[in-house]
Amino acid sequence: MPAMPAAADLLSPPAPAEPLALYVHWPFCAAKCPYCDFNSHVRERVDGMRYGEALRRELAYEAARLAQQGQERRKLASIFFGGGTPSLMPTEAVAAIIADARRFFDATPDIEITLEANPTSVEIAKLAELRDAGVNRASLGVQALNNQALGFLGRKHDASQAIAALEAARSLFPRLSFDLIYARPDQQEAEWRAELRQALALAADHLSLYQLTIEPGTRFATEHARGAFALPEGDEAAALYFATGEEAARFGLAPYEVSNYAKPGAESRHNLAYWRYGDYLGIGAGAHQRLLLREGLVASRRHRGPEEWLARVEAEGHAITHTETLSATDRAREAMLMGLRLSEGVDPARIEARTGLTLAEAVDPAMLAACLDEDYLRWTEDGRLAATWEGRLRLDAMLPVLLR
Ligand SMILES: C[S@@+](CC[C@H](N)C(=O)[O-])C[C@H]1O[C@@H](n2cnc3c(N)ncnc32)[C@H](O)[C@@H]1O
Ligand code: SF4
Repeated sequence: MPAMPAAADLLSPPAPAEPLALYVHWPFCAAKCPYCDFNSHVRERVDGMRYGEALRRELAYEAARLAQQGQERRKLASIFFGGGTPSLMPTEAVAAIIADARRFFDATPDIEITLEANPTSVEIAKLAELRDAGVNRASLGVQALNNQALGFLGRKHDASQAIAALEAARSLFPRLSFDLIYARPDQQEAEWRAELRQALALAADHLSLYQLTIEPGTRFATEHARGAFALPEGDEAAALYFATGEEAARFGLAPYEVSNYAKPGAESRHNLAYWRYGDYLGIGAGAHQRLLLREGLVASRRHRGPEEWLARVEAEGHAITHTETLSATDRAREAMLMGLRLSEGVDPARIEARTGLTLAEAVDPAMLAACLDEDYLRWTEDGRLAATWEGRLRLDAMLPVLLR
């Protein structure tokens, strides 16, 4: 006769089979870029080891919480050190966090461990140490390969440093990505195509290509409002987006997400976990997370201020300021918001499994019909709902009216 399950097991549903993704936020930068509204701060002195220890405490706290839920041996498929500028973290702290994560969870054999690095000389010198600490994918904030644009963007590196960083990173990491910002003031399509071709020839198998956006509260927002510069808009911006896809395709990189291009198999597994609405843990100032627990899909976020975050973690073991069990409608909205960013689109069966709502219940049927009619959305051959190229250009306007 099979053994009776213990009472505690009857209360705990089996741990989700899907692996976890772990995000680690480092909230400091050497300087604040004028376009950036990420949770990043400039401080004269940072006690990096103390912050590192606090990150470890938050991770241990979350691991214990998952263990209480019968999820102590969740699989872990990715770790992403983001920021801010995590290449400024003490390498010992990066190594300790990776070791802890591997101890608490079952790392998949091909676990992806990414760290965002700025291409300044100080950080290039640390790349080998970071590789030895366990990082196996680098994401470099190149932003532009032209010195005038780098000056405008307020970056601390020039184009030759960026190229040196890319070459160093390529020799150290099996997987490499870098970020560029385009649709800059007065940027001509021919110039952008040439810059992008140069970037693509630098042999990254993954690129994040972002159109410059003006974020409220940034220095660019003030300057833009007083007319100091204008950005390409409408047809001009669309032409730049189209040119971007065309040049990337010449080098075998497909747009698998609105701003992300990769060779087949080189997609960021960590970011795919967000876009496919998987479970992720997020530790560090301002980080958020989504975890399937006994009570449902639980969203949490942490204190954004680095000093307040540190004080709370040191006092209580975590700095969560807000926790909420998401309603079915919230889950469906989030899953659709994320999934329609992907070229593969959303799988109705997955939406239903993750949210309890059918796709037909998650969207406004009249708006869905209109978006299909306008060719902004389409059904793929394997029955997924995906945004077309035209639709992806209009995603921000389309989603609020499409989703209930
Ligand atoms: C957290 S930041 C990168 C981290 C790293 N500190 C760096 O600057 O290289 C992520 C990326 O978002 C992009 N980004 C940030 N603000 C942006 C904006 N307003 N418009 C377009 N891209 C932006 C940049 O390409 C940046 O590299
Ligand atoms: S773009 Fe990167 S370096 Fe610049 S302020 Fe934002 S996080 Fe820091």
